[in-house]
Amino acid sequence: MLLTSIITVFMAFIGRGYGEWALVWEDNFDGQSLDKTKWTYETGAEPKWGNHQLQYYTEDRRENVRVENGHLVIEARPEPMDKSQFTSGRLHTNNGWTRGRFVVSARLPKGKHLWPAVWIMPTQNTYGNWPASGDIDIFQFRGQKSDTVEAKAQYGGPYPNHTVSVSPLTKFTDLSVGFHTFTFEWDETEMRWLVDGQQYFMVDVHRDLWSHKGVDPYTQIGQPFDKPFYLILNVAVGGDYFPVDVYGPQVTPEEAKQWPKPTMEVDFVRVYQQK
Ligand SMILES: *[C@@H]1O[C@H](CO)[C@@H](O)[C@H](O)[C@H]1NC(C)=O
Repeated sequence: MLLTSIITVFMAFIGRGYGEWALVWEDNFDGQSLDKTKWTYETGAEPKWGNHQLQYYTEDRRENVRVENGHLVIEARPEPMDKSQFTSGRLHTNNGWTRGRFVVSARLPKGKHLWPAVWIMPTQNTYGNWPASGDIDIFQFRGQKSDTVEAKAQYGGPYPNHTVSVSPLTKFTDLSVGFHTFTFEWDETEMRWLVDGQQYFMVDVHRDLWSHKGVDPYTQIGQPFDKPFYLILNVAVGGDYFPVDVYGPQVTPEEAKQWPKPTMEVDFVRVYQQK
């Protein structure tokens, strides 16, 4: 398995003849607290987020977001806050990057209706409202199926006239056990998604990305993926992403007390760009 991974990474590297990737930004979470020169909290509850999520995102509260033992920890908790029954944390980088290789090492949560994500969003809505200017999930994950991830890119026009390129739900090992690397590579021709060095999804971006619904927001091929995007880390709870017929009714605070692992632990976030 290790040898296969090494060969896969090596083949990927020599096969495509990219420029060399150079590290341009990183957080290894080695300090005592969150580095606010790098990160900003996103706070509050629905209807801010869409999808009928259940959590309230707090600010500067150790119970939900803390740096300890060299890791960033984001914890979802069954506890009332304002009108919500759960609290959790959501952060975004202060920087944005146009193209790059984003690598996140993380141990993911496990438990009913836990919904962590690492994703990127445009710093400005240059091509119009969501998701005309782009929205990419480096991964989405459901705490009930802790060996399965999903990659997604949304673009093409404003909702509901957009295109969704989504990977199949792809099975790996149990990602709530130990740290795993989630890599997203984005250059002028392609986007590639990898878990532990194994590529499982690709989108060609060297083309007209308009959905051909409504008005064309773009003038050139490759748009909207020619502008800077910032990175978001969060652990959401519940919402429309967990259809009742597949995942059962909404998680209750009582059930949530049985979550085996209510935390996402992040060892590092690194961003590389081509020289
Ligand atoms: C979506 O496309 C339809 C035509 O197909 C158009 O009437 C409508 O205004 C568009 N909506 C948005 C939000 O662009």
